[in-house]
Amino acid sequence: MERLVANLLLAASVTTAAASEHSPAIIPAPKKMELREGTFQLAPGTRICVDSASRKTGETLAERLRKSTGYPLKINAGNSASSCPKGAILLTTNNASATLGAEGYELTVAADSAVIRAPEQAGLFYGSQTLLQLLPPEIYSSNVVGGAKWQIPCVHIEDRPRFKWRGMLLDVSRHFFNKQEIERLLDEMALHKLNTFHWHMVDDQGWRIEIKKYPGLVKIGAWRKESPLAAPQTNHLRAAWLAPLAFGPDGRYGGFYTQNDIREVVAYAAARHIAIIPEIEMPGHSVAALAAYPQYSCTGGPFRTDVKAGVNHGIYCAGNEGTYEFLQNVLSEVFQLFPAKYIHIGGDEVPTDEWQHCPKDQAVIRRERLKDARQLESYFIRRMEKFINAHGKTLIGWSEIREGGLAESAVVMDWIGGAVEAATNGHDVVMTPLSDCYLDHYQSKKQVVEPRAIGGYLPLRKIFSFEPIPETLPPQFASHILGAQGNLWTEYVESFPHVEYMAFPRLAALAEITWSPKSPREWDDFTRRLQIHARLLGRLGSNYRRASVEDPDAE
Ligand code: ACM
Repeated sequence: MERLVANLLLAASVTTAAASEHSPAIIPAPKKMELREGTFQLAPGTRICVDSASRKTGETLAERLRKSTGYPLKINAGNSASSCPKGAILLTTNNASATLGAEGYELTVAADSAVIRAPEQAGLFYGSQTLLQLLPPEIYSSNVVGGAKWQIPCVHIEDRPRFKWRGMLLDVSRHFFNKQEIERLLDEMALHKLNTFHWHMVDDQGWRIEIKKYPGLVKIGAWRKESPLAAPQTNHLRAAWLAPLAFGPDGRYGGFYTQNDIREVVAYAAARHIAIIPEIEMPGHSVAALAAYPQYSCTGGPFRTDVKAGVNHGIYCAGNEGTYEFLQNVLSEVFQLFPAKYIHIGGDEVPTDEWQHCPKDQAVIRRERLKDARQLESYFIRRMEKFINAHGKTLIGWSEIREGGLAESAVVMDWIGGAVEAATNGHDVVMTPLSDCYLDHYQSKKQVVEPRAIGGYLPLRKIFSFEPIPETLPPQFASHILGAQGNLWTEYVESFPHVEYMAFPRLAALAEITWSPKSPREWDDFTRRLQIHARLLGRLGSNYRRASVEDPDAE
């Protein structure tokens, strides 16, 4: 019934601009929302009260509000509900219901107060995001907006996410995106209440993370002659924003993050309650590393990072003890940079032909009594798993790590299957199927009106309709499905505005399916909210795909 009232109001918001100013259009939709009579008016003298634990979260909210309203919005620290003045916004962990969990919150807006209550800071942060989305979308402007009515409808919201893992992968190997661009993406993720950034830092076409012990990884592995898409594509949409920018002074294409850059990005993400999961690919997808250190391959090289998209020749030699030492030294530095519990080691699309012909690999197969190269891959992954576990971390790998036997404590990232088998055997799983979660796929069947893409077809409605719990999974194992993420591979994505074009609004749909309850999940309701949400993205300057908002059902 509450939902019905909200929906009626939302319907009204489509017909009158004035109504839309005040009708909630929150994405992802909260678990429970009750609209009440009246509005809360933000004013220059509005105070933001915080208890001492919540000061930083309150300051973050105040900063956002100050930018677009121009109001000073002073912080009152050390406040409880009783000592906070009338007309204030209060953020507090006091008396928050434990049932809200680590990320949930309760938001109560009345004419003379707005209170966000949550057991943890993540919940207060998400409550703040909801509060912002209750204001006109102009609140996301980076300059003062004159003439806006800074009103928040009176409302009571109880909200908590359906899934723990609400993520996005960005491939920074095929094309490089700099630190400022990554931070911008983290901002865009945070407002959608996404909490996991999977940073695909290593692949055939580029190694992007500075490793002090092996300087060649970025000196050689981070560069190639040019972006392979530099030549104009005449049979697809061209736009100025599609051009790659990451050329070095010598004209080579590429780039990397220093360890300091990474520390800054990790802190930036943490302030937005986003965990960063780095991916260091092995044993395949390793051309960039082997271009610098060919001694860890079967053949000794040579290797060049100018590999075409979809061609993968690089594999570490699993019969060389030096390979394990090299990768463990690399991971030791990676562990120092990323506090997250998980480390992703890839494991997908491993071309084992070189192992078939390598005497060292064949010797390991005999010594360990393995059946074939697939079991050698499993042996390789298990050795890395032991090392990873010994450092208190958990290994994640793509679907293929199941082949030849799944390592005991591994988490499977399902892109081509394996979720049901893994979850029924007690493994945690992140869902990111090729059919529903690949943000590098086309958004229209009319490919010529789109920038060139790798293929596929993932319209907004398809990702919105994706259900992360596999239908055939017995319900007692459902809790092993940690959540889902959208994957943006960048073989054909050259610039950051192009990243945004591929990500939004599809990531808004992913946010909704990972955060909001399974039912009700209504396409018409979502696309109505999206009209207002798009104005918010516009205010942020995000290059979202307009056609998906204007005509969400167009094929
Ligand atoms: C993948 O898309 N190769 C995981």
